[in-house]
Amino acid sequence: MALRLCCAWIFILLLPGPSDGGKLLVVPMVGSHWLSMQQVVEKLSEKGHEVVVLMPEVSWQMKAAQAYTVKTYPVTQTLEELDGAFREYVTTNLQDRPFPLNVIAQYNISVHVFSTFFVQCKDLFSSKETLQYLNQSGFDAVLTDPVFMCGATLANYFSLPFVFFMRGFPCNLHYEAPQCPSPLSYAPRLFTFNSDHMTFFQRVENALVSLLELQYCNGFYQDAIKLSSEVLQRDVSLLDLMNSASIWLLRYDFVFEYVRPVMPNMVFVGGINCAQKKPLPKTQQSQLICFGCVFMTYGFQTACR
Ligand SMILES: *[C@@H]1O[C@H](CO)[C@@H](O)[C@H](O)[C@H]1NC(C)=O
Ligand SMILES: *[C@@H]1O[C@H](CO)[C@@H](O)[C@H](O)[C@H]1NC(C)=O
Repeated sequence: MALRLCCAWIFILLLPGPSDGGKLLVVPMVGSHWLSMQQVVEKLSEKGHEVVVLMPEVSWQMKAAQAYTVKTYPVTQTLEELDGAFREYVTTNLQDRPFPLNVIAQYNISVHVFSTFFVQCKDLFSSKETLQYLNQSGFDAVLTDPVFMCGATLANYFSLPFVFFMRGFPCNLHYEAPQCPSPLSYAPRLFTFNSDHMTFFQRVENALVSLLELQYCNGFYQDAIKLSSEVLQRDVSLLDLMNSASIWLLRYDFVFEYVRPVMPNMVFVGGINCAQKKPLPKTQQSQLICFGCVFMTYGFQTACR
């Protein structure tokens, strides 16, 4: 008991006070992803940390705010080009094609949308001024939404510890990179629509899909892997980029997924999505349903059961 109390005191003494906050670089993902990350960033800044948010000059939903410093970097694409790529992506997902043409078309358009948005990361690494600023700022850590892998590349480039704040990855990457046990007989793979209770043939299907996993993500992330290998001056794989993440903050909940083992540095923070509670106006409800369709075709339909 005495020992436990003593440990508790040491722990309290070690907690940083508001005066000695750290210096955090935030590398977000544009659009709706930013909306939940913003809550965290504002709170961190309120707690006395110095926060710099790296934003492309052209982006969706991202604005400067008082709580944090914004560093923008020049980009080569216009907002119309980004809008066009996303519109094409949504249209393709909503089109009714027979199997396997639907899968091929969805894969193709996903590769296309990933490489379109990844151009912003290439622009970041071409901006000498931005890199110099980042290097001279002496950050303690990077907080990043890893979906386009730019923050992970940047953190590896500056040898900074990094924290992922994310919803999910295709290809089981968020379980593969931290080496979570992921038994094929119980952990259903994305796109299979299986549950954790599988028949023999569903298990075979699960095993076949898992064989494809690293292959199709190498397609999505081909530009990220190429750029990272260039800037880090060694051959990097997708898992090399991700597996040194210090903490994984997962913006979802077991309620939406199947129960499965995770590593101690993986923390579920699904409640963050409810930080802003307001009833939706009618028009937004119909938009939400439309996005629901896109996600349904993408195998997230378990979330709606
Ligand atoms: C793949 O995507 C590109 C770019 O959107 C498009 O031009 C091409 O027709 C697509 N190919 C297939 C097979 O869907
Ligand atoms: C950051 O700046 C230091 C000192 O000027 C330099 O030695 C180092 O190579 C730079 N690091 C990167 C990743 O550019």
